Amino acid sequence: MKTLSRRDLLKTSLLAPAAAAAQGMSPIRAAIEAAGQTTGQLPTTARRELSIPGAGRERLLLDFGWRFHFGDANDPAKDFGFGSGRTGNFQKTGNFLPAGNIAYDDGDWRSVDLPHDWAVELPFKNDPALESKGFYPLGRAYPETSVGWYRRIFELSPDDANKRITLEFDGSYRETMVVFNGFYIGRHSGGYDPFSFDVTSFANPGGKNVLLVRVDATSSDGWFYEGAGIYRHVWLVKTNPVHVKKWGTFVSAEVRPGEATLTVRTELENHGKAEQSVRVTSSILDPMGKEVAKAGTDAANIAEGGEHTWEQKIAVKQPQLWSLEERNLYTLVTEVKSGGEVVDRHATTFGIRSIRFDAANGLFLNDKSIKLKGTCNHQDHAGLGAALPDAVQYYRIRKLQEMGCNSLRTSHNPPTPELLDACDELGMLVFDETRMMSSNPEGLSQFGNLVRRDRNRPSVFMWSMGNEEGQANGAKGVLILTAMKELATQLDGSRPVSIAPTGAIGTGGLAVCDVVGYNYMDPEAEAFHKAHPDRPVIGTETVSAVGTRGIYITDHEKGYVGSYDPYTTTGRASAEGWWSFVNARPWLSGGFVWTGFDYRGEPSPNGWPNINSQYGVIDMCGFPKDSFYYYQSWWTEKQVLHLFPHWNWPGYEGKEIAVWVFSNLDKVELFLNGQSLGTKDVKKDSHVAWNVKYAPGAIEARGFKDGKLAMTTKRETTGAAAKLVMTADRREVSADGEDVAFFAVEVQDAQGRVLPTTDNLVTFKVSGNGKLVGVGNGDPTDQEPDKGASRKAFGGLCMGIVQTAKTAGTITVEAASPGLDSASVTISSKSVKLRPQAPVWERKVPEGAGITGLWRPAPGAPGATGIMAFLVGDGTTVFTLHQDGSSLTGNAEGLGGGFFGGSDAGIPIEEGKVDGQTVFFKVGNSTFSGTLKGDQLELTRTIDFSRWLSRMPKEPTGPRPAIGPPPDGTDPSFNIPTRIPSGIPVVLRRVQR
Ligand code: GAL
Repeated sequence: MKTLSRRDLLKTSLLAPAAAAAQGMSPIRAAIEAAGQTTGQLPTTARRELSIPGAGRERLLLDFGWRFHFGDANDPAKDFGFGSGRTGNFQKTGNFLPAGNIAYDDGDWRSVDLPHDWAVELPFKNDPALESKGFYPLGRAYPETSVGWYRRIFELSPDDANKRITLEFDGSYRETMVVFNGFYIGRHSGGYDPFSFDVTSFANPGGKNVLLVRVDATSSDGWFYEGAGIYRHVWLVKTNPVHVKKWGTFVSAEVRPGEATLTVRTELENHGKAEQSVRVTSSILDPMGKEVAKAGTDAANIAEGGEHTWEQKIAVKQPQLWSLEERNLYTLVTEVKSGGEVVDRHATTFGIRSIRFDAANGLFLNDKSIKLKGTCNHQDHAGLGAALPDAVQYYRIRKLQEMGCNSLRTSHNPPTPELLDACDELGMLVFDETRMMSSNPEGLSQFGNLVRRDRNRPSVFMWSMGNEEGQANGAKGVLILTAMKELATQLDGSRPVSIAPTGAIGTGGLAVCDVVGYNYMDPEAEAFHKAHPDRPVIGTETVSAVGTRGIYITDHEKGYVGSYDPYTTTGRASAEGWWSFVNARPWLSGGFVWTGFDYRGEPSPNGWPNINSQYGVIDMCGFPKDSFYYYQSWWTEKQVLHLFPHWNWPGYEGKEIAVWVFSNLDKVELFLNGQSLGTKDVKKDSHVAWNVKYAPGAIEARGFKDGKLAMTTKRETTGAAAKLVMTADRREVSADGEDVAFFAVEVQDAQGRVLPTTDNLVTFKVSGNGKLVGVGNGDPTDQEPDKGASRKAFGGLCMGIVQTAKTAGTITVEAASPGLDSASVTISSKSVKLRPQAPVWERKVPEGAGITGLWRPAPGAPGATGIMAFLVGDGTTVFTLHQDGSSLTGNAEGLGGGFFGGSDAGIPIEEGKVDGQTVFFKVGNSTFSGTLKGDQLELTRTIDFSRWLSRMPKEPTGPRPAIGPPPDGTDPSFNIPTRIPSGIPVVLRRVQR
């Protein structure tokens, strides 16, 4: 299916208003469902950004066409000279490092597109120090895999000379240093919060611009996998000098029956040369894109370099509220006028809804009571690490919704914006968490950025100021959390704040919170509620049950944990234990299960060979574990009848096996090979179980509702593996180079039953307009590469993740396994309008006769050390040569090692001649002459020093002192010509970059 933009949705919805009205659905919802009907799927990546043309604002995706190379955290020679003692990197502005030059030879840097996580590409290392991070070699002991360098070249138009140019990073792990056009720009510390740099003064409008980024993942934050590299989007933003500030709009709503009053805050900045008189018009577009309100401001004079904030009250009649069922999204269009012209037009997506906590009755969304059926989640996924294409966020949210989940905690860090897009668009409440509880400048900046960035999102209902911070409970916590809360109030003020605490409830700094959280302390929470009936309470983190998908025997050696809920806990609550407690207490707002999805690292309760956690209700790929159906039974309205374990137990004949059913029907009757084993009543929020003497064949559960048979389900002893069966999660994807589809493979017997205990090796082959970007199988012990082309089918299941190319067509995925029938699925990749992006600039290799082509100095050229290396031409010199008969033209970039500045521009070749094997040309003050030998140009460079020579001291006239300068003021120490030979050997070789 085509990726729908919001605009598409609006268009589609226009076609179906009658149907929508008839079903009482919002048009967007109707459009989503209508679109879904063609494929059975909801759309993914319904992009939030409305591209509003004109007014000089552009936000271009800068994800494609990067080059990547490992650096080294210890060795400057392997770190592109950074930190080398020869010269200080920070000595001058500009020429920061050779790798920051456009002409720099990055021929051995590999191509990558963002988002990119290099950690997931590393082989596992059995080092206990790496356990919590999933055994990936990062940190002080692994300098050679802890630093990554990225390069990207793009052009700016001459018109950009009048623009502010900003580079925005949505997140990069973890210490990031940005160099632009050879200028050191700045550093950012912190792996999850967005950061940006205004690089206007360093930009080359009308020319090429090179962005060099060093990312150092040596130090880390969490006790879980965090990835490494630029693992979120990067943007190039252009604006006029007077513009809306980054995250400078804020819409909050006061909802009354039939009306909402919006408070619209708009922050502007003036980077222009003089004071500007500026006014703002705010227009409100409803979910259909129709303008429903508009208001202007008075003009304000904003001084050069100054800022101004307006606040407007705008009424919206009969607002279409945002809710989990009706994800109505409004748009604020901010138009900025200065000097009679519209100088900026900026779009903000927001929702109108009310949220309140009630100490006796929990949470209310739009005055409707809502129990939080939540999960905590880290950000990594099978095959991809932390670098998730946007479509994966939608896939994950849909999986969580399938189990009935209505809320999510972004444990323990600011999420990527696209996760919140998915939550806004698909209907999931978010408890939005900062990384570290702190009121130091870094902590407040991270938390403040989180609040400013996410305060317009209807899905975000509460801010989390941290997780399990021991200091929160005491006197320091009071001060820190008070400062953080004050910041949230100042920047937002429309949402409560809380923290996920440890070992205490509501005491010390925890009392500062609007809503009292608790991690894992159900009985203590009850006691707290009794003592403080006026304080709303929420289970900020709960359960922590572990289980391996499809495994029923706990085997610590192998690293597997059985899937029966009460037997698989880590001493904390079981799913059933927790939910039956919460659901029976209206004062408890609900809570967040640890975790929705498995994640890398924290392989509790085992260590090596486990490389990922087993806390998930869903495995790393998105395959549900049994407990998924416990939640589905009690969190959804859907009828559920889930029976386990599988029925392949050779050697267990006559032995008792616990057979469980998760169901929300009234009664369940169990059969073994057609014989009833009795009927049991299903107790609310519980499960039913039998002990059954194993005999091969089939167990069958029949579920009854209101006395009638409602559902049946069976587990049968399977035959031998015979075939692979593959299913794609979508039949149509977008040809945008970003979208992904998930190809799930099952190993089945001849009768079409999944083999629950097999581990056949499955190889994926992708042809057509897509590529395989990762594989997975949910096995927490599998150490095969996520970036390989094959994977074992763990418990009969594995998955390939495929990303589209930018060319439309079809994508065919084949899955093969020795001895089994293979499977093949073709999906179509539809042409879509690409979102605005900065084109990739690549140096062209000229084609033609003779020595036409790109040439660079060969490494290790004779005598090329020290000053000679500089003169021979180092890694930043490239010659573009065009031979036409005996004439030679072209240019040389980077001659002089970039030392003289501006050399990246390319100096034209003059008087170029080729005569047989003899080559001659001049560039600037240098003459090159020599011969072509095989595929090398062996040349001699002669530098014309006449400019220096003219300044050489004349022979002193008159008497000279035995010691001391000549009386005529000349300087005999000046000796450049004696240090530099007149003929410098230079060997050039052909290159492709
Ligand atoms: C919690 C912690 C989580 C995770 C979990 C495992 O205390 O907040 O990050 O470690 O324990 O049970």
